[in-house]
Amino acid sequence: MKGIILAGGAGTRLYPSTIAVSKQILTVYDKPMIYYPMSTLMLAGIREVLVISTPRDIDSFKNLFGDGSQIGMDISYAVQEKPRGLADAFIVGASFIGNDHVCLVLGDNIFYGYAFTERLRSAAARKDGATIFGYHVSNPRDFGVVEFDGQGNVLSIEEKPQNPKSSYAVPGLYFYDNQVVDIARQVKPSARGEIEITAVNNVYLAAGKLKVELFGRGMAWLDTGNHRSMLAAANFVEAVQTRQGLYIACLEEIAYRNGWIDKQALLSQADRLKTTEYGQYLYQVAEMVKPRQP
Ligand code: DAU
Repeated sequence: MKGIILAGGAGTRLYPSTIAVSKQILTVYDKPMIYYPMSTLMLAGIREVLVISTPRDIDSFKNLFGDGSQIGMDISYAVQEKPRGLADAFIVGASFIGNDHVCLVLGDNIFYGYAFTERLRSAAARKDGATIFGYHVSNPRDFGVVEFDGQGNVLSIEEKPQNPKSSYAVPGLYFYDNQVVDIARQVKPSARGEIEITAVNNVYLAAGKLKVELFGRGMAWLDTGNHRSMLAAANFVEAVQTRQGLYIACLEEIAYRNGWIDKQALLSQADRLKTTEYGQYLYQVAEMVKPRQP
């Protein structure tokens, strides 16, 4: 399975912070925002990742991750000329996807919680159709919203509805079979002029091939839409890391646990970051963690 991180957009709701830099390169506590969705793909077991961003910002991500080999990955890059919509990721990424199936994660979506890795691995293992998620929120109007019948079957998905039919938002994490490339090419722009991911999901729903899994209370899906929610996300990460002594979205740790890099590679990343708590944490990981056999 391939992975795509969509990390473009204008980021106007975070002005002036994003006048000169990408939103997804801003810090959430102690690491760039894009580390969090990258960790999500890595936990799903995905090593081949395409980062899509704007003509202005793509080089920032290249500078950050390079070819990905330092974390045992294969990371490539593509430019989205205009923010044409989330489904455009599959058009921009068509040759990268090839005949494979694909997971899309939005570059500003942060997930953390109990049994998340298991949920990701089982969604990634599904060969047919689409898997998306539902998450209870207090402000469903701001998202794609899923409607269920009494038996938990999905009746509809609506993009930013005025009158939401449930409180379950669809987070920016989507697993698709290879059909998604053709489906995205056929989607017509919405009233706001974007080719919507919700339209793609509705095609799968109509074909009886959409699975919606609910995340429970133990799962955090953090908002990074404005300055206040950015601070709240940073505080969350700081609180968990300080309390547990375990890091959220430490890419080198995940790579090491996955058996994608050896101890020497981990230690050389630790040396590079040694003036930070993040770097010191990597030394601890090298000391304490037994990596999975590759
Ligand atoms: O976060 C989850 C929500 O993401 C879903 O519930 C909605 O169904 C989905 O449409 C999307 O809604 P947003 O209004 O939050 O999407 P937004 O336009 O803010 O784009 C999300 C991220 O993707 C943002 O960081 C910018 C980036 N982006 C967006 C578009 C439209 C791109 O890189 N390219 C694009 O063309």
